[in-house]
Parts: sequence; C-alpha cells; structure tokens
Amino acid sequence: MSDNLHQLRCIGCGARISGAEAQPDFRCVLCGELFEVEYPGWGERQGHDRPNPGALKWLWRERRCSPEPLDRSGVWRFRELLPILNSFGNVVTLREGNTPLYALHKAAKALGMDQLFAKHQGMNPTGSFKDTGMTSALSVAKERGFEWVACASTGNTSAAMAAYAARAGLRSLVLIPEGKIAWGKLAQAMDYGAVTCQLKTDFDGCLRLLTQIVKESPIYLLNSVNPYRLEGQKTPAFEIAEAFNWTVPDHLIVPGGNLGNSSALGKGFRELHELGLVARMPRISVIQAAGANPLVRSFKENHGASLEPVEAHTRATAIRIGNPASWRKAVRVIQDTGGWCLDVNEAEIAIAKAELGAEGLGCEPASAVTLAGLKHLRAEGKVASGETVVLVLTGHTLKDADYTIDFHRGTLLEKDETAGYEAEIARLQRNAQPVEATPAAVLATLKGRVG
Ligand code: F0G
Repeated sequence: MSDNLHQLRCIGCGARISGAEAQPDFRCVLCGELFEVEYPGWGERQGHDRPNPGALKWLWRERRCSPEPLDRSGVWRFRELLPILNSFGNVVTLREGNTPLYALHKAAKALGMDQLFAKHQGMNPTGSFKDTGMTSALSVAKERGFEWVACASTGNTSAAMAAYAARAGLRSLVLIPEGKIAWGKLAQAMDYGAVTCQLKTDFDGCLRLLTQIVKESPIYLLNSVNPYRLEGQKTPAFEIAEAFNWTVPDHLIVPGGNLGNSSALGKGFRELHELGLVARMPRISVIQAAGANPLVRSFKENHGASLEPVEAHTRATAIRIGNPASWRKAVRVIQDTGGWCLDVNEAEIAIAKAELGAEGLGCEPASAVTLAGLKHLRAEGKVASGETVVLVLTGHTLKDADYTIDFHRGTLLEKDETAGYEAEIARLQRNAQPVEATPAAVLATLKGRVG
C-alpha cells in the first residue's frame, strides 16, 4: 500500500495537479503562483483517510518512547499528517524536531507577562528550523530518483540541505550571496560536501538564477517554493500544540524572510484545527528587519494585496531578503489568524538577542526579531499581560558568532543606530577583558558587578 495521499493545489488559481506533474521551479503553468500540499481524503468526514484525532494524540506521544528512527524524528513522528511519500522507507532523517520549549522568565517579567515561551528551533541537528523542512523535501527528491539537489540561501537552508544530501548520498549545489552569509553556515555547507558558489548578487538574485538552472538540468530545487519543505516545517506547530496539551497559545511570533516558515506554521495550525485536534488557531504575527521589510510595507500600503520588492539591508543576514517568494501564503496566515506584521530596527534586534542570551538561550539575530517585535505588540496593547505567547527562535547562536562578539565589543552598530538605546546596550554588553594571571586580579574583576 502506498503511504502517499497528497496532491498539489495552486494558491493562485486553485488548479490541482499530482506531485509528479510539478514543474522544476514549482510554479503553476497557468498562473505562475506557488502550490501547497493538500490531502483530499481529509475532507471526507467518514472517509477512510481522515485521521482520528484521539488516536493520533495517543500514537504520537507513544512514539516518543520508540527506538525506530522514524518515530524518533520530531517530523516523522507526525507522519499521518504528512503522507507525501510513496514509502516512508525513503525518509532521510537526522532526528530533527522534538526541540525544546523554554519559559522566558526574565523577558516575561520585563514585559509584565507570565506565559512567555521560546520554541528553540536552533536546537535542530544543523542548528536551524530548516532541518524540519529538509527532511521532508529531500526525502521526496530521493524517492523521485534525483542525483542532484540545490538551493539559494542566506546560509541555513544550504547548511541543512548539504547535511541531508550527504546522509542520502545525493550531491548538492549551493548558491549564496558573496560576503553576506555568516561564517558558521558557510562552514557547514563546505563540511557536508556541497558544491558552494558564492555569487556577486543578493539572495533574491541567487534564487532567480537557480530557478533558471533547474529548468535546464535535472536538479531538484529545495528552496521553500518547494511545497514539501513546508510540510516538514509545519510540524513544530504540532509539537507546540502537544506541549500545551492540545490547547494552543494565544500568539505565535515568527521572523519573516522568504516567508516559508510563517506559511508552514500557519498551515500546521490550520490543519490541526480542521481535523479537530485543536479548538482554535493562535494569532500568528510576522516580524521583519526594518531594512528588509517588504511584507510590512505591503500591509501598510495595500493590506497585503500586492508586494513591491525592496533592496534588503540588515545585519540579521538570514532574513536579508527583499523579494519573498511565499508572501501570499504568509498574508493569508496573518489575516486568517488575526496576527500582525511589523518591523524592528537594528538596535532593537541586537538588544533582544543579548537579552535572550542573558537567559541562557542564545539565538541568531534573525530569531531575536521575535522578542523585539513582541515588545512593540505589548506596548501597542495587541498582546495582553495574561496571554500565552510563543516566540519561534529559528537559529542557533553559534551560527553567527561574529555578530555576537561585535555586539559585546561595541563594534556592531553605528552611532546613529544606537541613539536612544545606549543605556540598554551598556547594561547587556559583556566584553572579554584582558586580566593579569593572578587570583587577586581575576577576583577584582567581580567587584562592583550587580547583574
Ligand atoms: N530565521 C533564520 C535563522 C533563517 O535562516 C531564516 C531564513 C528565517 C528566519 C526566515 O525564514 O525565509 O522562511 O521566512 N533563511 C533562509 C535561508 C532564507 O536561506 O537559510 P523564512
């Protein structure tokens, strides 16, 4: 029996095709829009393929104690909700998912809240949320017999793709914008054996180029335009709902770059709701860097009806994206759930990142936009003190150590960027200091320290 129950539906014109009919660039031949995976059997109330909520909740929890590789993956543990393969035997897994949900005590206190959490997706095998989507899409590539896979990346997608390709015995091609990705991520792509091309263009240029390349040669595209990526990336929604015992938080706050992740998490919660596993959806808000905020502009200018690409600039290189591919999907998620879309500046990002670090939860700058955004939402009264909030931390702090060191040394931000934030920054900075190698000198450095 086939494990495959899916088809693809165009989010623009609604055309439906089988998985095998998708074009190499995953765009609809009729209208040029993207596809999303759908499972027709779920709509039939008494249908054989419609999952049973009570049985699933029990099964998924049981699997956490199972020694089987598929059960130990935080993505494939939920495989009844992603039947995208002909055989689950083709899964390529590094035991992704099952990431921790941490309470943020200090940030909650500072914001006058008591239910604030971080879902730390940086705790995945290659250090970012991309692993959850890579296990699903790369497994499809393997099942369909591709030898080469490729992505354009600001760094994390390439690290994840290279690792999963290596595990599967596939070859991988990475296109990255020269000089604009963090060293930790570049190091990973090299180590996992990808062919890595640094191009004199930005992320958006890399993706444009790769779209042409995959039309000319049999290379499988693994950017988040590939709808199978989003199937894996929706599973943290299941983990969050499970962690709250199948109630859902009031708010989920996600960074926005190419906008695949917010779309995927929205799809995850939507499916849980439609299948009767949860009673409602959280409000999902997307936060962008002020210098890379095309979606924020789109909401301000035309309520998300169209999007004008921007030239992107931010030190949060992971989300340095001016022309996000999945923006229509993200608009739908924000509008359907009653969330918001806003941007935060470079000082706010750096401060939020240092605050998370001071709670023992280091993350990438791109992840810290979530806490910076929450501060705005609290100040504007959009998040109430008694509400439950989950921030999605997308990447590990060691991905971009240069950023962190520059912050603590005081060399990260320009003077005009720190104006008004000097005291907050000074309170958080912990530069390493040269000290004489004697006990007295070391102990002297502790004097006068309060926090
Ligand atoms: N946070 C991190 C750490 C990321 O690496 C990315 C995207 C995002 C947030 C934004 O997620 O694009 O789904 O809205 N990184 C991609 C990459 C673009 O190539 O690694 P998104």
